[in-house]
This record gives sequence, structure tokens and C-alpha cells, in this order.
Amino acid sequence: MKTMIVTGGAGFIGSNFIIYMLNKYNEYKIINLDKLTYAGNLENLRSVQDNENYLFVQGDICDSELVDSLFQKHDISYVINFAAESHVDRSITDPEIFVKTNVLGTSNLLNIAKKYWEKNGEFKEGVKYLQVSTDEVYGSLGETGYFMETTPLDPHSPYSASKTGGDLIVKAYADTYKMPVNITRCSNNYGPYQFTEKLIPLIINNALNKKHLPVYGDGKNIRDWLYVEDHCSAIDVVLHKGNPGEVYNVGGHNERENIYIVKTIIGYLGENVDSSINDTLIKYVEDRKGHDRRYGIDPEKIKRELGWYPATSFEIGIKKTIKWYLDNKNWMENVTSGDYQNYYSSMYEKI
Ligand code: NAD
Ligand code: TYD
Repeated sequence: MKTMIVTGGAGFIGSNFIIYMLNKYNEYKIINLDKLTYAGNLENLRSVQDNENYLFVQGDICDSELVDSLFQKHDISYVINFAAESHVDRSITDPEIFVKTNVLGTSNLLNIAKKYWEKNGEFKEGVKYLQVSTDEVYGSLGETGYFMETTPLDPHSPYSASKTGGDLIVKAYADTYKMPVNITRCSNNYGPYQFTEKLIPLIINNALNKKHLPVYGDGKNIRDWLYVEDHCSAIDVVLHKGNPGEVYNVGGHNERENIYIVKTIIGYLGENVDSSINDTLIKYVEDRKGHDRRYGIDPEKIKRELGWYPATSFEIGIKKTIKWYLDNKNWMENVTSGDYQNYYSSMYEKI
């Protein structure tokens, strides 16, 4: 039995990952360390909350005493760091918390992981650390080309800058101490349990409530979409087979313009739920400040070296996702109450 700390496990990707791992393996005990910010929701983990291999601890990755005590109490083999402030728009209005969690939190986790890695294995065995990062650290692409692991880091938003800061600290621990770390840099995820501030669940939620569908700028910015379960399988593969110190880009060549995504969702809901959901709901609004034009991942390295392939095409994944939100309207209503309401009513006023 091996124990892993999964941070940010009550968020979108972290909760999908915990469910994926507990369903796939019996030999891992998972400790979910999550602060439960507005984006964390234990409801996401209802299906595993009674699993004897799962333990939830509420806390901050910046809290060194707490993180140290987890290492003291449990024989930790892996740390997988999902915990982050993750929304670009929020980083534009409130950048400081992004630096705290995404840079200082990462530094704290690494520092403590290193202490126990040195203790456990005389520098040979022990803790492996995996940083879950993003393609946004590479900045923005023109009309051609893809992000490779060797593409220079060139972040623009406070979110992507803070993720880059985290990545560079992880790299420093590999370069300096030869600590066994990996960094995964994935493209935009979509699927169940994504908080409704991100494009796909926001559009689904607004359309069902006959609210405007805000499209930033000309709607032609491009994101490269990956179904969340494929991201989970990539992390699983890197955790088990990733070469120490290596970065792996994760993506499946599913580039789409934002307006295409919005119209796809309208098309599905108009046909299957309510014919009055149509293009008239679309509202072009002021562009995001510093809006990156295009992201596109070259996933050749993870395919070639680790044999990872995504299983879900965008066409299948988006239908599964919309269906999930339709089947889980209570989940959506719960996450769109409280802080979220206040935050977004102030944003929409600006628009
Ligand atoms: P999310 O916002 O849905 O979840 C983040 C989780 O982290 C929440 O449960 C929150 O409570 C927790 N958290 C925040 N600050 C914390 C702190 N200081 N200590 C402990 N827990 C804290 O985010 P997500 O979309 O699931 O993203 C997870 C990770 O994957 C992030 O690191 C993000 O940068 C990365 N990523 C996301 C995407 C994407 O499309 N969503 C793509 C590539 C990489
Ligand atoms: P988002 O889901 O916030 O992810 P990221 O900014 O990390 O890529 O946004 C995806 C794209 O959709 C991005 O180009 C911004 C755009 N967008 C809108 O046009 N309207 C919206 O309401 C939101 C949230 C995003």
C-alpha cells in the first residue's frame, strides 16, 4: 500500500483524478489536502467519501506545519499538486492570492517533500513530486505552430505567470537537488464537476437559465480542449513512468474557436432541451485584458516516450459533458450560489 497526497482534490480536475485512481487501483491510499476555497466542493467526491483508501484533510498548501504533520503521520510516496487559484479572469482582478497559492504554496510543498525524500531514501528513493501545470505558461501562439516542452516560457496573465513561477521552483528542485519531480502541462480541460465560471459550464448554465452567453472579443480565440478523464490518465502514466526531472505536455489536438464551442452547446441544448435556446442568447462583450489568442499542444513526447493517447474525441466529450450537467442540475445550482453570485453580478455590471 502506498500513500499519496493529492492537493486541490476537491476542485474540478483533482476530484476527477481521485475518483479515477480509487476506481483503478486498490493499492493507493489517497489523502486529499484542500483548503475548500470557492472552487472546492466535497460534493464532487460523494461517490468515494466512504472509501477506506480515501482521507480528506481541510487545509492550505502554504501551511508548513500542517503539510509537515501529514508527512510525519503517513508514509508518503507521492505528492500530486493540483491546488491552485485557476481562473484567469479572477487573476486579473485579484492577482495576489495567485502568487500566494501557486508560487509560495508550491514552494512549501516541495520544501517539505524534499525533507522527507532525503530522509527516506538516502537520496535514492522516496517521495516523487508531480506538478500539475498548464499550457498557458508558454504564452500565446500565432496562426501556426504548437507548444512543445522546449517552447520558451512566456506567460501573460497573473494566473499563467504564477503557474510559471511554480514550475520554475519545481525545475530548480530537479536541477539542484536531483529530486524526482515531473511537470505536466495540459491544455484546457472540460467535463464533469468543472466550476461554472469557466467557458463550457458557464455557457451551459447560462443557456439553461436563458441568460446572455458572454463571448469575449471577436470569439475567435482558440483553446485546445481535452476531456478531463484523459488528463487523469496522462497524470497516472507520468506518475508511474515519467522520467525524473522531465516535463510532459498533455493534449489531444482539439483546437476550437470559442464561438464554435458556444454554438455547439447552443445546438445541443436547442435540439435536446428547449428550442428557444438559440444564437440570440449570444452577447459579444468587452475582450479580456491581455487575452491569449491561441493555445495548441504538441503531445508527441508523452505519446512517444510513455505511450499515452487520449481516448475521447471532442465531439463525444462535449456531448457527455453537456449530458452530465443536465443530469446534475442540483450540483450546478449549489455551486452557483454564495460567493459566486456576488462575484459575477459585479462582473456583469461592468460589461
Ligand atoms: P479548480 O479551481 O477547480 O480547483 C482548485 C482546487 O484547489 C479547489 O478545490 C480549491 O479549494 C483548492 N485550493 C485552492 N487554493 C488552495 C490552497 N492554498 N491550499 C489547498 N487547496 C487549495 O482548478 P482545476 O481546474 O481543477 O485545476 C487544477 C490544477 O490543474 C491547477 O493547478 C490548474 O492550474 C491545472 N490545470 C487546469 C486546467 C483546466 O483547464 N482547468 C488545465 C491545465 C492545468
Ligand atoms: P476559460 O474557460 O476561462 O479558460 P482559460 O482562460 O484558462 O483558457 O476561457 C476559455 C476561453 O473562453 C478564453 O479564450 C476566454 C473565453 N471566455 C469567453 O469568451 N466568455 C466567458 O464567459 C469565459 C468564462 C471565457
